[in-house]
Amino acid sequence: MKRFLNKNILITGAANGIGKATAFRIACEGGNLALIDNNSEKLKELCKNLEHFSIKVVSSVCNVSDFEEVKKSIDKLAEELDGINGLSHNAGILRVYKTHEMSLKQWNELIAVNLTGTFNVNKHALPWLLKNKTSYLVNTSSSASEQPHPWLAAYAATKGAIKSFTRSLFIEYFQQGLHANCVLPGGITTDLANSFAIPDGVNINLIKTLNPLGQKLFAEPERAASVIAMLLSEDAEHINGTEIAIDGGKV
Ligand SMILES: NC(=O)c1ccc[n+]([C@@H]2O[C@H](COP(=O)([O-])OP(=O)(O)OC[C@H]3O[C@@H](n4cnc5c(N)ncnc54)[C@H](O)[C@@H]3O)[C@@H](O)[C@H]2O)c1
Repeated sequence: MKRFLNKNILITGAANGIGKATAFRIACEGGNLALIDNNSEKLKELCKNLEHFSIKVVSSVCNVSDFEEVKKSIDKLAEELDGINGLSHNAGILRVYKTHEMSLKQWNELIAVNLTGTFNVNKHALPWLLKNKTSYLVNTSSSASEQPHPWLAAYAATKGAIKSFTRSLFIEYFQQGLHANCVLPGGITTDLANSFAIPDGVNINLIKTLNPLGQKLFAEPERAASVIAMLLSEDAEHINGTEIAIDGGKV
């Protein structure tokens, strides 16, 4: 299956986890890649590992929370590839806090990376996406946007906002051929998920509310990448302004 031949896909958070798995999935299907991450070492390593694919790969080290840096990076990558047909925005962070102990600085960090980062990337990618008759945009939200998750209030708030932001993009731009959807991963085995640690002195039974029926909680990043790839392809021609959960039925 080569759904991305002659297509250019921009991926953020590309150096690890879901973004990296998505980069490999698109590469396997013949798509050219524009990769963004703030981890220069891992991004370099990924580009090296993508060398044996017969595709063009361009990359930029960039902090998605920096408005000007994101514009510069996306414009440069899009010019190098001569356009962008699809965006998979994954760059994000997870922080675990008891909400009454969270500082304003900690709140602002999550908002800056997860939410303002989403605005920055989408805003600067849109002019390129809208040059095409049809284009595809997939933002990575989370099951935490729907399911009450203890100690993730700020993270969940950013992920809920990403969902409503993306639905707004759908109604604003569908007439210009944009498909704007979200994925809602549950547990995906990545460094981000592994960094979740139950805070001291809390009721650990709260964690049981997340999976009362005992479904399989975790899946490999490739399970998320295959859904993102579908939403970036013509297979998603009739899917717009919505979300797909990748949580094994958890929510
Ligand atoms: N893993 C899960 O269980 C899970 C569940 C729901 C949602 N998600 C979401 O999926 C997305 C990808 O997460 P992942 O699990 O692959 O995590 P990950 O930590 O493996 O990968 C995230 C990538 O984003 C990059 N990044 C972080 N901050 C950045 C910044 N300011 N600028 C540019 N790049 C930055 C990191 O360097 C890393 O390469 C995130 O938005 C996360 O919230 C993950």
